[in-house]
Amino acid sequence: MGTSEKVLAGFVGDLERDSYLISDKFTPQCAKPSGANAFSDMVEMQLDLMGLDRFDIYWIHNVWDAPKWTREMAKYFEGKENVPILGVSNHNLAEIKEANEILKSHGLKLGAVQNHYSLINRSSEDSGILDYCKENDIIFFSYMVLEQGALSGKYDTAHPMPAGSARADAYNPVLDKIEVLNAELKKLADKYNVAIAQIPVAWAIAKGTLPIIGVTKEQHVKDAVKAANITLTADEVAQLEKTADTLAINTIRFWEKEMK
Ligand SMILES: NC(=O)c1ccc[n+]([C@@H]2O[C@H](COP(=O)([O-])OP(=O)(O)OC[C@H]3O[C@@H](n4cnc5c(N)ncnc54)[C@H](OP(=O)(O)O)[C@@H]3O)[C@@H](O)[C@H]2O)c1
Repeated sequence: MGTSEKVLAGFVGDLERDSYLISDKFTPQCAKPSGANAFSDMVEMQLDLMGLDRFDIYWIHNVWDAPKWTREMAKYFEGKENVPILGVSNHNLAEIKEANEILKSHGLKLGAVQNHYSLINRSSEDSGILDYCKENDIIFFSYMVLEQGALSGKYDTAHPMPAGSARADAYNPVLDKIEVLNAELKKLADKYNVAIAQIPVAWAIAKGTLPIIGVTKEQHVKDAVKAANITLTADEVAQLEKTADTLAINTIRFWEKEMK
């Protein structure tokens, strides 16, 4: 535990603090279960590891005993200066509303939600979470918009994901369907003169969400900037979703649930 903080600290160490935003998360399963100060111990350890005095966003990472930990988060930040945007991840609509109520009772508010959201997993939209976020000034961070690379155009039935990884287990069995969607993505990629991977990101932005992309190469960062400059039309968004819907692919992963 703490490896990510140490690695990231090496990247941001020399930068002006106002030149970047940084978030960290509280994963309930990682807390000391009986520790009276489990929440503050975790945040302060993370800040120490990074040599920082504040985060910009702080998350309750999943719903495991989440109301208890949201209350602890609220108690910790109540009345403090520089309170980060407070967020929850992998919560359904009822759980999101509950978290917001808990925070409001401490004079705070929910500022961010982070859920799996992609062309082939729109349950956060269907369940009303996106609308709730818009109505309540909550930023919706969409994770896995590229379905771990399956919607990048790099993988197809002739070039499956290397066996032995969780993503290969999840996506290789449905690559024939993914190919159909990637063909549709390619049409728009050609129109906008970008690579396929930029279109799902542009789609997520067109839906009013803020995509979190798992970049593994320097080029991926440059690609993400290009994607942010593409404005898909309403017809293009609708056509992509129509194609995705006909495929009926289920990519809900073992740590997730259908958002209802
Ligand atoms: N809250 C949660 O429970 C939760 C769960 C999962 C993820 N997340 C967050 O979401 C982030 C993204 O998730 P993820 O990395 O699993 O999935 P992702 O963003 O859907 O996919 C990342 C993969 O897409 C490919 N890729 C990225 N940019 C590309 C580009 N420009 N061109 C071509 N391929 C590109 C890369 O594949 P190759 O390496 O094969 O090139 C990369 O490994 C994570 O870093 C994490 O912060 C949160």
